[in-house]
Amino acid sequence: MTSMAERGAEVRVRRAARADEASLVALLEAHGAELGKAAPDRTALVRGVAAFLEAEEARFLLVAEVDGTIAGALTAQGLVGVTDGRPFFLVDDIVVSPAHRRAGVARRLLTEVESMARAAGAPRVELLVRSVNLPALTLVSRAGYRKAADVHLTLALEPAEPER
Ligand SMILES: CC(C)(COP(=O)(O)OP(=O)(O)OC[C@H]1O[C@@H](n2cnc3c(N)ncnc32)[C@H](O)[C@@H]1OP(=O)(O)O)[C@@H](O)C(=O)NCCC(=O)NCCS
Repeated sequence: MTSMAERGAEVRVRRAARADEASLVALLEAHGAELGKAAPDRTALVRGVAAFLEAEEARFLLVAEVDGTIAGALTAQGLVGVTDGRPFFLVDDIVVSPAHRRAGVARRLLTEVESMARAAGAPRVELLVRSVNLPALTLVSRAGYRKAADVHLTLALEPAEPER
């Protein structure tokens, strides 16, 4: 549970750096377990985090620090609209460690993405969230995100990950 003192703690959002790799892998590993997924493949996770850290211009990995500890992270990809050549961002994951929830950390991460997108001249930010994830849906709808007309489709090229 988040204490009132923590609610007032300062949240600092910045681009992730190489030195954050171990903390990020731990945060995302715990998140996978929380979603009820089978234990994540650590090697694949390390590779995923590294791919974001290495390709800074198109992939964004933001971290939120509270008192010097990484309390949350957000990943976004920079895309370009083919009809207008304008950039837009796709936010595909937000994770806040359980100890830091309901303290405004995710909201702060979303605000940062919004500022980055505006600065890049993007007309919008897109975001993927599971339709059953009520906390996340509440978070994003309160942040101004609205359901788009597009339907998110997936072509599975490998068997789906088993749910636990
Ligand atoms: C969803 C998640 C990212 C929210 O992070 P957070 O830092 O606790 O969110 P915030 O404190 O910024 O919340 C902002 C607002 O979102 C809503 N919200 C956040 N968590 C909520 C919850 N569990 N239930 C209902 N509303 C919630 C509230 O309106 C909240 O404002 P309030 O605290 O003043 O009522 C966090 O619970 C998490 O990491 N969950 C597991 C991973 C996940 O589901 N990620 C989303 C994938 S896009």
